[in-house]
Amino acid sequence: MPRPGGPPIFKDVGKLSFDFVPERMPHREKQLKTLKSLFHPLMEANLSQNALLVGNVGTGKTHLSKRFCLDFEEFARERGKNVRWVLVNCRQRATEDSVLLAILKKWDDRFPERGFSIPEKLNVLRKHLERERAHLIAVLDEADVLLKKGSDLIYNLTRFDEEYQEPRGSISLILISQRNILSYLDRSTLSTFKRNNVVEFGKYNQAELRDILMDRVKLAFFPDVVRGECLNLIADIASDYGDARYAIEVLLRAGELALDEDMREVVPEHVREARATTHALLSEEALESLDRPKMIALLALARKLEKKAYVTTGEAEEAYALASEEFGERKRGHTQFWKYIQDLDALGFIEAKPSGEGVTGKTTIISMQEVPARSLIESLEASLLK
Ligand SMILES: Nc1ncnc2c1ncn2[C@@H]1O[C@H](COP(=O)(O)OP(=O)(O)O)[C@@H](O)[C@H]1O
Ligand SMILES: [Mg+2]
Repeated sequence: MPRPGGPPIFKDVGKLSFDFVPERMPHREKQLKTLKSLFHPLMEANLSQNALLVGNVGTGKTHLSKRFCLDFEEFARERGKNVRWVLVNCRQRATEDSVLLAILKKWDDRFPERGFSIPEKLNVLRKHLERERAHLIAVLDEADVLLKKGSDLIYNLTRFDEEYQEPRGSISLILISQRNILSYLDRSTLSTFKRNNVVEFGKYNQAELRDILMDRVKLAFFPDVVRGECLNLIADIASDYGDARYAIEVLLRAGELALDEDMREVVPEHVREARATTHALLSEEALESLDRPKMIALLALARKLEKKAYVTTGEAEEAYALASEEFGERKRGHTQFWKYIQDLDALGFIEAKPSGEGVTGKTTIISMQEVPARSLIESLEASLLK
């Protein structure tokens, strides 16, 4: 937080927050244009459209979808068409009931949490859209979570107009996922997503990240506070992941460090320090992409590993049982726990390897090399208590 009388570092630190949707998204012009042309038939002929946005974390999918919806809503309004949009994060709203509820709350903030079945909710939605003569663009972010549960909601939403004699174009869907999830769709839903409705978001390279950072520097910092070489350094660091979110996080942290040290400038050493304290694996996004049982398994591991370098799966599983109880989560069996270990290893949080032959026979030992256990514990506890 800038202190009164502190050095003039941030002009508007809010421009580095995760909620801020930039007006301009460098190196995403193509994706935005593709979406706009995909949705052209909606304006021209009132035809619903569906699109799928695919790409890794931090490639701009969520923000680009918001940018598109904001722009499109405005574009439609100027042409006398009422377009509404809602973005629902399916990881946070993990059931179709709560996704639908989030959509309805766009119209009625006090829509009751309970007491309406899914067909009833769909009907309420239909009434709202009819009354307002509105078209809804529903953005389902992290849609893979919903699909993996075998949800019918996407099917129902793509079939929304079948009740009517003539097509009306009531709802369009934008699904967002890290992976291409078309294979999870049933055949008839799939037919509404044509191959060219998949918009891909590649990882950003160093030069692209630099441009993105440059824009943010202008918005968030006073002039001449961040040196060009610092931007190069941050872009280099983040290009390992191709992740703009991480780049912006390091930029923010570097600025905060300069502020703490009462300096008028962000220097490369701030960037290095920022990097050392903001690991991509510790970001809220990375942690919240784990489902709850896996978060609990990781927390249990971190708690054990805070005190020693290596633990066995046996020890880890005991800690997991305790942590599950603490957070009121059903403890999954050994096989499932083993699966969590493998997944957490694949994601880079832990390293699991066979111990070789020992007194207790062969076992797996687990260590944590990437991030401090204590940082993980703090962040995971905060997420789990949310
Ligand atoms: N091309 C871009 N230009 C400006 N900011 C970007 C760009 N791509 C991503 N960002 C920013 O990076 C962060 C992560 O983007 P986000 O859309 O949340 O990524 P994703 O949903 O793919 O994980 C956000 O703060 C977003 O504003
Ligand atoms: Mg996202």
